[in-house]
Order: sequence, then structure tokens, then C-alpha cells
Amino acid sequence: MQNLNTYILAIESSCDDTSCAILCNNKVLSNVTANQKIHEQYGGVVPELASRDHQKNIVPVVDAALKKSGINLYQLNAIAVTRGPGLMGSLLVGLSFAKSLSLALNIPIIEVNHMQAHILAHFIDDSAADENSLSPTFPFLCLTVSGGHTQLVKVKDYLQFELLGETLDDAVGEAFDKAAKIMNLPYPGGPLIDKYANNGDAYKFKFASTHVPGFDYSFSGIKTSFLYFIQNNLQKNEKFVEENLKDICASYQFHLIQVLLKNVKEALQKTGLKQLAIAGGVSANSQLRQRVKALETELGIQTFIPKFEYCTDNAAMIGISAYYKYLNNDFSDLSLTPLARLSVS
Ligand code: KG4
Ligand code: ZN
Repeated sequence: MQNLNTYILAIESSCDDTSCAILCNNKVLSNVTANQKIHEQYGGVVPELASRDHQKNIVPVVDAALKKSGINLYQLNAIAVTRGPGLMGSLLVGLSFAKSLSLALNIPIIEVNHMQAHILAHFIDDSAADENSLSPTFPFLCLTVSGGHTQLVKVKDYLQFELLGETLDDAVGEAFDKAAKIMNLPYPGGPLIDKYANNGDAYKFKFASTHVPGFDYSFSGIKTSFLYFIQNNLQKNEKFVEENLKDICASYQFHLIQVLLKNVKEALQKTGLKQLAIAGGVSANSQLRQRVKALETELGIQTFIPKFEYCTDNAAMIGISAYYKYLNNDFSDLSLTPLARLSVS
């Protein structure tokens, strides 16, 4: 009799998180991630340190994911791995490990596009079914917001994506992280700005925007205006940041979300799409989640907000993407190489 269950071991190592997940079809049996603390002191990810940490973490993380899943290596049907986009050295660690495992077990290897995976995390079946675990139906619009990318994507199918707009310079995650660094907060600054913003006045300070035609974004000018804003105020009052931290965070965060949602609304109107999903690390932001949810009544659309564990980098999203490729017999071979740049479409 044919085995109806497909077991996939997935590895994600594109940036600074080493993650391994085991999936049975579209369900996650385990999803273990080692975060790298070493970058905190540098205000951003240091590529060489990241790849060294991946090397240290990968065996224990894979071991832990297997133990937690209750599956043994010989039950696996395929190995999934992030091919790109990401840091070359970091990707190489995951890819080399995945290739060796696929060779040793004589099972196929499936390459996954990290940006597609952030979106497809919405199709993980978390059967503790509450209304938030519903998946979107095709086609839908996705705003993918992470440390390296800001994209508006029309998602046509599990394997078909159309890029409608993206950032021309910094990603919105970088706009959060760099502002945090300017205020001497540790990396990654996004979650901290989110936390302080909760009790601050979002209307107290105003920041500049860069107008970009179409659905593209630009965040580097906003970040520079933030830098000058802080420098000017520190000249007048050296305790300015300390005394206004919550209001600065709330106002800056509010501004970034306004910029993000402006294009989202225009894209919804122009495409006529009635479903909106958000994905990527910044989709963990509490204000962004609330503002997107509010669009349901404001625009009469349906919105999809990922569970927290599937916002920031994780291997479960790599596993779910690979599952749909597996069903399509879309396999790679051992000549597979990492790609630092890789388009979502
Ligand atoms: O998707 P991700 O884990 O990695 C990349 O693929 O880049 O995204 C990481 C980014 C970082 O810039 C981090 O500051 C941001 O997500 N982030 C947040 C929040 N949680 C993570 N930004 C704002 N608010 C948050 N709560
Ligand atoms: Zn990511």
C-alpha cells in the first residue's frame, strides 16, 4: 500500500537563525530554532560570525527537531533547504548539510526560495483550529516585510508569484533596526521599538517620507531623517532620547506603518484583490498586526496574520514550501548552489 504521509526535514540558515523543522504533509511536527545572540553588540548581523555559528548550531538543532518530532531519519521522504536569498556563508552551511543528508539517506533534496517561504507559512495546518489558522485562497496580496526585504506580491498559486512592488533601498526591518542602533538599543531593534511604542504618543513627532512611483518603497531617506532628528535634538538636550524614548518609538513606528499601508491599499484597489496577508519578521509587529486587521472593516477585505512563530525566520515555512514542490515532483540535484539574490517571482 502507498504511504500517504510525506515526511520532510527542512533546514533554514539564510541569515542569523539556524532552524530545522520536521513536517508530516502540511503539519509541523517540530520546529526548532537557535537564535544567534552574538550580533546584538554589533547593531546588525556580521556575516562571518553568522556562518560560524550556523556550523556550531546545525547538528544540535537538527538532532533536537528529530527528537521532538518522534520521526527517525529513515522515515524521511525528502530534505528541504533554503537556496536564497541570504548571506552566502550562512546559506552554504545549510545547503552543504542538506546535501550530505540527502546523499546519505538517498532521498531527494528540494530547494526553497526564502521569500516565497515566508508567504507560504500561511498554509501550515495548525489544527488547533481557531479563526486565525484559516489560510488565504488564491489569488491574494501579500505584504512581506523582513530584515532584508519589503515586497508586495500577488500570490497566484503555491508555486506562482508576481512581484508588484519592492523596496528600492533599505528594507523596513532595517529601518527599524538602524533607528534602534541610533538610539543605542541592541540588535534586532524592531521588537524593542514595538515594545516601547506601546506606551508612547504616535502623533508627537513627524518624519519625512520619500515619494516613490508605483508600488515600490524607499526607506533609506526615512532612516536618514530619523538620524538628523535625533542628532538635532541631542544637541539641544543630551537626555532627549532617554526622556522621549516611548514617544519617539511610537511616532517612528506609526510613520513606517503608514508608508507600508499606503501602497497596500493602492494595490488592493488596483488589483481588486479581496484578501491580504502579511509575512516576514516585521509582521510580528503589534501595531502593524492591529492596523492590518482593521482594514477588514475599513475596506471590506479578509486579512491573514501569521502566528508569531512563523513571522521571523523558521524552518517550518521552508518545509511547507517544499511539501507543495514535492507534490509537484519539483526536486533539485546535488549540483545545487546557494544564491545571495533570488527574486520571489
Ligand atoms: O524575517 P526575518 O526574521 O529575517 C529576514 O529574513 O530578514 O526578519 C527580521 C526582521 C528584523 O529587522 C527585526 O527587527 C524585525 O524583523 N522584527 C520586528 C519585530 N519582530 C521582528 N520589527 C518590528 N516589530 C517587531 N515586533
Ligand atoms: Zn526571512
